[in-house]
Amino acid sequence: MVGHTKKSHKKTRLLQSQNADIYHHPIEKKKQLQNLTEYINGDILEVFGGQGNLTEYYKKCGNVTAMTKEKFGDSFDVIYSMRANKKTYNVIDIDSYGYPDKFFPVVFQMMKHKTTLIITFPVVGVNCLNGIQEQHFINYWRSSRPTIGDVVGVLTDMALREWYLLQLIDLQKIKRIYRIAFQCTRQKATELCGVKNR
Ligand SMILES: C[S@@+](CC[C@H](N)C(=O)[O-])C[C@H]1O[C@@H](n2cnc3c(N)ncnc32)[C@H](O)[C@@H]1O
Repeated sequence: MVGHTKKSHKKTRLLQSQNADIYHHPIEKKKQLQNLTEYINGDILEVFGGQGNLTEYYKKCGNVTAMTKEKFGDSFDVIYSMRANKKTYNVIDIDSYGYPDKFFPVVFQMMKHKTTLIITFPVVGVNCLNGIQEQHFINYWRSSRPTIGDVVGVLTDMALREWYLLQLIDLQKIKRIYRIAFQCTRQKATELCGVKNR
């Protein structure tokens, strides 16, 4: 059984590296973006540009920075140097193979007044969960099997810490992943807190 799992994991990795559509779902992802045109414009950051399935589409909508491993390096590290450059984006798309956990809260510090955030969130339970994975989910998403509600709740709290109001604008389940889109709107701290600065 373990041998079989290892073999299929290897096959998955190979097909992913060959940019196989069964792992990237370009048609479904682009269809979702086409329904969100009013939210997709300006400066666009693709955190996992990969081999450009979405980059070509995004280029028609705005000014795209596609972070690819080959050109930029490991997105998990590079995101912090992008943050240090203080550039902000109208659209941030985190299309990782795994969970986007480690890109929060940093991406909330890279937003304009209004920014569209799109994340890929793998359906929980597709792969066998072990204790460490369950604890990781609890640490990041407050549940050993986070639901979309848990994800939206945690991100809403996190966004508010950075004075952004998060609104869920679209949710698509594409095979084994969810693509979740939010509009994030900066709030005035004084208005949000109902207090006045003296
Ligand atoms: C789920 S794919 C999505 C790519 C693209 N958005 C698309 O729709 O085709 C994730 C991509 O990120 C690349 N990748 C994997 N690990 C990475 C890392 N640590 N930093 C940057 N890119 C990475 C993979 O090679 C893969 O092409």
